[in-house]
This record gives sequence, structure tokens and C-alpha cells, in this order.
Amino acid sequence: MSFKGKHFWITGASTGIGRALAKKLDAEGALVSVSARSEDKLHELEAEGENIRAFPLDVTDQSLMGAAIDMVADRAPIDHVVLGAGAWSIMDSDQMEMGPIRTGMEVNYFGTINAIDKLIPMMIARKAGHISIIASVAGYRGLPRSIAYSPTKAALINLAEILKVELEPHNIGVSIINPGFVDTPLTQDNPFPMPGIITADEAADAIYKGLSKGKFEISFPFGFTLLMKVLRVAPNWLYLFIMRRIKASI
Ligand SMILES: NC(=O)c1ccc[n+]([C@@H]2O[C@H](COP(=O)([O-])OP(=O)(O)OC[C@H]3O[C@@H](n4cnc5c(N)ncnc54)[C@H](OP(=O)(O)O)[C@@H]3O)[C@@H](O)[C@H]2O)c1
Repeated sequence: MSFKGKHFWITGASTGIGRALAKKLDAEGALVSVSARSEDKLHELEAEGENIRAFPLDVTDQSLMGAAIDMVADRAPIDHVVLGAGAWSIMDSDQMEMGPIRTGMEVNYFGTINAIDKLIPMMIARKAGHISIIASVAGYRGLPRSIAYSPTKAALINLAEILKVELEPHNIGVSIINPGFVDTPLTQDNPFPMPGIITADEAADAIYKGLSKGKFEISFPFGFTLLMKVLRVAPNWLYLFIMRRIKASI
């Protein structure tokens, strides 16, 4: 499948995976609209691309979402949205802080819901469109030190499964993107080893390849995500045994 001339809207595109994907799609001839809060970074990205246009937006602000999507759609009907705005903070459950926990859910889950609330009716009216959501292999099962993150990504994976089945009759596609570790500003301060870590450009290539094959789940890199998939279906006693060992080592 070629994306030449297709209009993509990417949230979380000021840095990391979203930015690399915007550049990749632009190089392949797509029309790319990008959102995040950092206007300066979005305008830099706009200047680097042929067909990239910036639409600054805080995805947690539901009151601004509708108008922002209308502006993106005024450029051209939105063929494909990649909802990647994300927040991560390391946290242990014996030192809970409500602020980062709420931010994680507000950005990762409700930021996605705010967007699809407006996008679904638009796509149904056109009987066309594709919604891609960036979750994480951290959403497969609960991970140590991830109380402010892992549950938000589990919610997104669950959401995508619902959307996939319910939007198919309207000719709307859905993909869930589950990366392993990617070297971006999000992970740069992680104090633990990140097995199989890849660059943002490698992540963008994997996402592009998966989307062009029309895949429902796009997970990468292969080795690390395979391990996480095995742990996803492992019996609880084995999973908890491994997680206790990981918790003790990080
Ligand atoms: N890096 C990894 O290892 C990894 C692994 C699995 C999944 N992921 C997921 O991949 C996605 C992209 O992450 P990344 O690694 O590329 O990290 P990143 O470079 O930190 O990108 C996060 C993006 O989200 C934007 N964002 C944060 N809060 C926002 C808000 N309230 N409104 C709008 N945009 C907001 C940030 O831009 P502003 O600050 O300018 O708003 C930035 O563009 C995230 O959903 C992340 O959870 C990453």
C-alpha cells in the first residue's frame, strides 16, 4: 500500500517516534500534519519537510480538540491518524504520587479518547479512514515501577481491540502500535537497562512497514517484543516469579 498523497495527522510529533514517522511519511510523499504542545519544535519540523504542517495542540484539552481537528481536516480530509502523544514517569507503588499518575492517564488514554471522539463521526461520514494508536508492550501486563504508565497502555490496547471490530463495518481501519524500547527523550533518563533498544528512525521504519501492510498490531523490535508476548500468555506464577526478579534488579 502506498501512502503517497494520503493525509496523515500525527499527535506527539514534536520529538521521538512521532517526529521520525512524520519525516518518513513526508519523504514517501504523504501530506503530514503534526501536533504536540511544543510550537517551536513543530515549526522546525515543518521547515524540514516538503509537506509537513504544524498544528500545536495539548491533547488533554478537550475544548480545543474539535477546533484543532477541524483545522487539520480543512487542509485535506484526514485519511490516517497516528495518536502517539505520550507521557511516562517511573514510579513505585509504595511511593505513589497522584500528579504523574493522572497525567499519564490524561495524556495517554484521554488524549486518545478526546481525538477519536471527534474523528470517528468524521470518518463514518466519509466511510473511510484509519486510526492508529501508539500503546506499548508495557501494556501487555503490569510491569514493575510502571504504575503511572503500564495501566494507561493496557487501556489503549483494550480500546483498539474494541474499535477494530466496531469500526470495520464503517470501512474504518484500526492499528495498535506496541513498541519495545526506543531511544527518545521519553526513555533518555531511564535508570535501568533497556534490552533491544532501537532508534526512533528504526521505530518509524517498522511502523511505516506495518501500516503499509495493513497490520492490526505492529510490534517491534522482533526479539524483545516476542519475549514480551510470551510473558503475556505465561501463567501467573511464572510471570510473577520473573517480575519479582526484575523488580529486585532495577
Ligand atoms: N520510547 C519508548 O521506548 C517507547 C516505548 C513504547 C511506547 N512508546 C510510546 O511512543 C509514543 C511516543 O513516545 P516517544 O518515545 O517518541 O517519546 P517523546 O519523544 O517524549 O514523545 C512524546 C510526544 O508526546 C507529546 N506530548 C506529551 N504530552 C502531550 C500533550 N499533553 N499534548 C500533546 N502532545 C503531548 C510530546 O510533545 P510536547 O512535549 O511538545 O507536547 C512528544 O511529541 C508515546 O505514546 C510513548 O508512550 C515509547
